[in-house]
Order: sequence, then structure tokens, then C-alpha cells
Amino acid sequence: MREGQNAVIYRADYQAPPFWIDTVELCFDLDPAKTRVLNRMKLRRNPDVPHQPLKLDGDELNLARVLVNGQGTSFRMEGPRLVLENLPEGNEPFELEIFTTCAPAKNTKLMGLYVSNDSFFTQCEAEGFRRITYFLDRPDVMASYTVTLRADKRKYPVLLSNGNLVDQGDLDDGRHFARWVDPFRKPCYLFALVAGQLVAREQKIAARNGREHLLQVYVRPGDLDKTEHAMNSLMASVAWDEARFGLSLDLERFMVVATSDFNMGAMENKGLNIFNTKYVLANQATATDTDFSNIESVVGHEYFHNWTGNRITCRDWFQLSLKEGLTVFRDQEFSQDLAGEASARAVKRIEDVRVLRTAQFPEDAGPMAHPVRPDQYLEINNFYTVTIYEKGAEVVRMMQTLVGREGFERGMTLYFQRHDGQAVTCDEFAQAIADANPQSRLYELLPQFKRWYSQAGTPRVKAAAHWDAATGRCELALSQSCPATPGQPAKEPFVIPIAWGLVGADGREVARGMHVLTQASETLALPEAPAGAVPSLLRGFSAPVVLEFDYTDEQLLTLLEHDTDPFNRWEAGQRLAVNRALAAIRGNGEIVLDTPFLEAMRSLLRQPALDSAFKELVLTLPAETYIAEQLDVVDPQRVHAVRESMREQVATALQDDWAWAYEQNRDNGAYRPDPVSSGRRALAGLALTHLCIAARSSGDGVWPGKAYQRFKDASNMTDRFNALSALVVSGQDLARPALEKFHAMFKDEPLVLDKWFALQGGAPDRGGNILPAVRQLMQHPDFNIRNPNRARSLIFSYCSANPGAFHRADAAGYVYWSDRVMELDAINPQVAARLARALDRWRKLAEPMRGAAREAIARVAAKPDLSNDVREVVTRALAE
Ligand code: BES
Ligand code: ZN
Repeated sequence: MREGQNAVIYRADYQAPPFWIDTVELCFDLDPAKTRVLNRMKLRRNPDVPHQPLKLDGDELNLARVLVNGQGTSFRMEGPRLVLENLPEGNEPFELEIFTTCAPAKNTKLMGLYVSNDSFFTQCEAEGFRRITYFLDRPDVMASYTVTLRADKRKYPVLLSNGNLVDQGDLDDGRHFARWVDPFRKPCYLFALVAGQLVAREQKIAARNGREHLLQVYVRPGDLDKTEHAMNSLMASVAWDEARFGLSLDLERFMVVATSDFNMGAMENKGLNIFNTKYVLANQATATDTDFSNIESVVGHEYFHNWTGNRITCRDWFQLSLKEGLTVFRDQEFSQDLAGEASARAVKRIEDVRVLRTAQFPEDAGPMAHPVRPDQYLEINNFYTVTIYEKGAEVVRMMQTLVGREGFERGMTLYFQRHDGQAVTCDEFAQAIADANPQSRLYELLPQFKRWYSQAGTPRVKAAAHWDAATGRCELALSQSCPATPGQPAKEPFVIPIAWGLVGADGREVARGMHVLTQASETLALPEAPAGAVPSLLRGFSAPVVLEFDYTDEQLLTLLEHDTDPFNRWEAGQRLAVNRALAAIRGNGEIVLDTPFLEAMRSLLRQPALDSAFKELVLTLPAETYIAEQLDVVDPQRVHAVRESMREQVATALQDDWAWAYEQNRDNGAYRPDPVSSGRRALAGLALTHLCIAARSSGDGVWPGKAYQRFKDASNMTDRFNALSALVVSGQDLARPALEKFHAMFKDEPLVLDKWFALQGGAPDRGGNILPAVRQLMQHPDFNIRNPNRARSLIFSYCSANPGAFHRADAAGYVYWSDRVMELDAINPQVAARLARALDRWRKLAEPMRGAAREAIARVAAKPDLSNDVREVVTRALAE
């Protein structure tokens, strides 16, 4: 079978399926080398579409038999598809039986049925079910499933599928079986099975209506002591969806299973979520605070899909953000609600915005830019993007902003009243939220608001303040524009909610409000204010736009010190830092940080009233990628050098303050991954890093010694890893022995080894030392390119997360990248295509990197038999 020959799919070409599949009975004889799959379906013609042959999707299947109503029938192959022309006329249901085999042990793509650590797992979204059996593999075909699994009982004692276990027992030859019935109709992308030697943590819970549910978290036998947090997160998710949206668990049994070979983070299969171990397994010895918090939000995310995605699903894959954007919004809200305190909520919001701006904004400005609801794709796997997810979530958030929190909850209720059990589009979602709030600006502006779904690109909002000295009033001139994106040269104005405030020079808030910008340009008259008041705009990041306002340093310092909106307080600090970085990068590359900036940082660090978590965010300089996005031409090594120099100066100038902050925050009693104590650990870690950086400049050995001691004595992974990272990042000699010790301590913990690889692949470059180190680590006995987590930990940390080391003038980083993209493409195209995106922004690079990057991409593009996945990424990158 040839790869990569598929055609472009267009949203405008959508047609309802010519057949419905009402029931599916699947029977698996599981064997790693050759699994036999018997698929018995009841189909009927869809009376609403013209009479036509049945074309079933398939991929890498061996077909043994096809029966229609129990009789042999003629069929033909059309590429990978199975075509049946002589089906019963009329609209009566008929039975179709298809018998195929597949080879799970050879499935390195990890799509469809595959083997990992001697267990069987499936991944069907988006189009993996066709690798299990011939089917109408599209989300608008929803069927009821009965699944029988048969396998060797000793090797595969646990047999799981969606829904409820209705029967099980022993068979001949040491085999056994289990039969599962899913009470809900579902699209095939939500099908799942798991078979292997697994153990479960179990928890019975009672829902609000008194019904009992069984929650299970399945892992490999040695991992049970790392499942408590995932189970707690699952219980919290169930309770939250009931409390906030009135959505209850609709299943008797809800299972989560962890596997260490997984392309993505996790998957929401109905009643049988399958997770990357990274988002399940955690205890204080092996997982950091970030891991704990990621687990909470990923467990929440997949659980919330049970309603937003599974009960109401997508009509076609162009509607992906219907479930993903909405569910990301829900998991963000969940984490904020669990965080509780206003300041902890703000910290979560800042973290989410940081992801949006460092990952989605560049995507929106690059060759892969696409609307939240795309119009075309070659390979759907490439469209699980930060735009669909994070920008999609921002679009939902703006709806909530426009209708209010309660209005949004009413809208969700109406959405379920109207569409439960259906496969729908983004239009239907937006309509339901608007219809439930007929008095709202969303209702009034809905068609224009929906441009957020159809227009790609990040809008820019320019704001300029004109003070009238006589009246003491300020008029804001607001204008919006949006850069051209591939296929979309001109854009219409968006609906942009702008939360604003006026902060007096004395720090008191004078006024606040919400303005909805709808025209290309408008003026906004602000209320009377004492001289020197500062507009605080786009509070809470009320819209996913770039806000341009010519703040003076003095104004930014006022906002940093006084804004009542914590987001804009943080943002003021980021602006101060970015402005300085940009001036140096555009200038001669030298930077000397001024006293007012350093004093502002010091004063914030010393503020008694502020949370440690918030301080850590303010004192972390903007990411290199974020700085790079503000430039037209980027020399990543220069950006890196400037940011490093800034960090060194912040380290040295604030040395005593960092030492104070470290002492204040270092002890946290018994480990608990709550926002307060993880914020304290984060600030202690940042302090330690700065102290080691300052020590490197001065040649002093005290703090590196303390960091090494901390590394050895730490009672949890967060403190241990932060200490290790402080040594590595600051280039201390003690980094070497610490890394060796760390490896020896955790050689049997794959997720910890991933951190060990990632830290080294992502370390700051010193004289070009990282690439050789990465090449050498690829020879390490623990490296395995076939395991996605391991490949990501080393290769992606270098190519996608370490710009200063990757973009070498000698092009060696790009050669390494193209070799790995091609190597991975033969194993796992989805993972390869994600790596391929590391050079998305090559056009912005300064020479000689630009030419060298283009050459490396062209080298990949020229390879014969490239997958669709990688071909789409590199072709778009090279397109004019
Ligand atoms: N439905 C996706 C999983 C998925 C992604 C399947 C891509 C097939 C292709 C799942 O709900 C998801 O979004 N997972 C995220 C994590 C989530 C917390 C954003 C992931 O896997 O990265
Ligand atoms: Zn999702």
C-alpha cells in the first residue's frame, strides 16, 4: 500500500452518509501476530441521499470474507476501500458480516489495534477504526456496539471494552472471553478495547441522584501506588460537572487505562478512557507539581468529553473544535474552580494564555494557519492543533464573557436539550448559547461573532489614548485588523470583548467596564479620571488578540504595582521585559537592564501580600519564542543570548532577594500538590536557578553546593528536579554528577527518564554543545525512538523547545531534524508530522539559517513515499 496519496478534503463537500449503521457486533480473537476480527453490522440505506454503492473505509487490513444477510456477495476494492454494489434495494435493514485480520504487534503507528508492553490497546480517533475493520469511519455514523473479546487467559487476564460487562467465562486451550455492551450509540472513533495484565484502583461513588458508579484506574501491576491522584481527579471531575453544568455520569462503570505507548495525551473512548501514562501515574517521588496539575486537567478533560464530544459529537472532523475547544474551556474552568482563591485562578489563567501566545499565535502567523473551523485538510491528524484547542477554547470563553456565567450555563442546558445523541456542527453550539440569551450582545452579534470560527489569523487591536486636559477625560481610539493567512487575504472585523479599567497614578482603580469592539475602528470614551490614570486594557485576556498600546515605562510600572486585574499586572511586567529585549535585539545585541526595571522586579519579589506562584510568573522572563514572534526577522541565537543576559542580570542584581525568597519558600512540610505549596516550590526553584546563574558569573561555589545538596535530600520530585535543573541550566560542573545520580536513582521509572532526557535536550547551548549531546543520548541504552514519549523527550525538546541550540549557523540542527523526521515517518507518521512543524516559521529566520532551513524542509519533501501527515506539513511550509 502506498502512503501519502490522498486528496484534499473540503468542508463544503460534506454529504450525509449513504447508509446508516445501527448495530455493530464485534468479535475479536486477540493475537499479537494475527488478530481475527469478525464484524457483524445491521445497516440500512439513508433515504435522504441518492441510491449509491456502499464504500467502507479500511487501512492495512486482510480481508477474508464478506456476507450479506448470510450469503456470499460480490465486492471490489477501490484503493483501500471495500465497495459493495449488489446490496438489497429498498430501505429495509440488512446484515453485513465482514471477517478480517490485522497484525497488532507490527502496528508502530499506534493507530487502530496495537501492542504495548505485551498488552493490547486501541486508538481510533480520528480515523483509526478503519485499521480494525471495514466501516463507515466518520463521526456522524452512530451505532450500538456489542463486543466480544477472546484471548489467552494467562497473558491477557483483563479484557475491557466500552460500556457494561454482560458475560465472561473460560474457553478451551487456556483462553477466556468477555462480552461488553455499550448502552449508548456512538461514532466508531469512540470505540476502544484493552487486554492485558493490568490491575485497577477502584472507587465506588454515589451520584447526586443516588445512583452508584464504579470508577476504575487500570495500570501495570507495579504502578498501583501512582494512581491515587488520577482517581481523586476523576472523582473531582464527576462532582464538578454535576455542580457547574448539571451533567451527571451516565454509565455504571467508568474506566481509565494507562499505556506507555501513546501518540497523544489521552483519549475519551466512551466509558473506557485510554491515557498516556504521563497523565495518570504520579506520586511525590516521581512526579512534579506540574505533572500533578496536568493529570488533574487531562483526567477532567477526557471525562468532560463524555458530554461534550460523546453524548453530542461532531458531524464531521471540520467541527473538531466543537468538542475540543469546548472541552478545553471546560477543563480550564474546572482547574480554576478547584484552585479556588482568586489569585490561584489568575495564575491558571496566565498559564493558559502563555500557552496560547507562545504556541497558537505563531501557528496563526505561519504556514499551517487555519480557522478554528478549517475549510480543508489533507490529513486530519494534523488538525489537532493549538488553534482548534486553545483558540477554540478562547472563542467559547468569549461567548461566556458576552452572555455571563449563568447565561452560559443556560446555553449549555439548551444545547443538550436540542442535540443530545446527535452529531452536530459549531453553528448549532453557538446558536444554542445565543438563543438561551436573547438579551445578550452575543445574540445580537451572532453572525459577526462567528467569524471567529471562519477567519484564521490573530487580530491586532490598536488603542491610543487622547486625554482632554479640560475635562480630565480620556478617549480611546480603538482599531482592529487581522493579517492575511494562507487562502484568506482579507478579513472582516471581529467581535472583540475588551474588559478595561482605569488605574489612578496613586494605584486606586477609578473605573472599570467592558467594551465590545465590532467595527474596524471606534472610539471609547472613558469616565473622568485624575491626571496620570492608566488604562488597563484586555483584562483577563478577554479576547485572543494582540493589543498594541504605546505604554510608557512609567505606566507599565504603575500597572505592575497596582492593577487590580492580576492578569494585566503580570502582563505589564512582560511588556517591560519584552520591550527591553526587543530594543537590544534590534540594536547591537547588548543589554544593560535599568534600575527602575530591576527595582520593580525586586519590589514585586519582596511583596508580602502576593502569592509565590504569581511572583514566579512575573519573575520569569518571556519565552524566546514569544520574543521571536514580535520580530520580522529572527536570529534565534541572538534572542537566546539577549534573554540569557537579561536573566543573568536579574540573577546578579537581585541576588540577596533571591536568597531571601529561597529561604522563605523552601520548606513546605508534608507534600501536597495544592496551588499554595506548589507555588512556593516553583518560586524556590526559580530562586535557586537564579542563584546558581549568579554564582556562575561570580565563580562562587556556595549556591551550586546548596543546590546539589537539595538535589540529593529532596523529599519530592519537584524540589529534586528543580535543583537538578538549576545546576544544568546554569552550566555548573556539579550538573554532571547530579545527572548521573538522577539516572541511577530512577533507571526503572520511564516517566522520570523522560524528564532526564528532556532536561538535557532542552538545556541552554554553550558553544554548540547541545546537538552533540543529543546525538550521544540517542545512543543511550534507554533511548528508544519507537516510544513516542521518549522520542518527544529528547528529539522534540531539542528541535521544538530549544531554539537557541537548534538554529545553528552551520545547519547541523536542521540536518539532524530532517533525518529524524524521515526516520520517524517510517515508524509513526503522526509523531513525525508534529516534529516536522519545528521549522514552521523558517521564513522569519535570518540568513544563513533561513536558506539552510528551507533546504532541510525540501530534503524531507523530496523523499518518496512520505506519509500524508508529513507531506502536508512540509508542502505547506514551502508553499509561497
Ligand atoms: N480526543 C483527544 C485525543 C486525540 C487527539 C485523539 C488527537 C486523536 C487525535 C483528547 O480528548 C485530547 O484532546 N487530548 C489531549 C489532551 C487534552 C487535555 C487537551 C491530548 O491528547 O493532547
Ligand atoms: Zn479532547
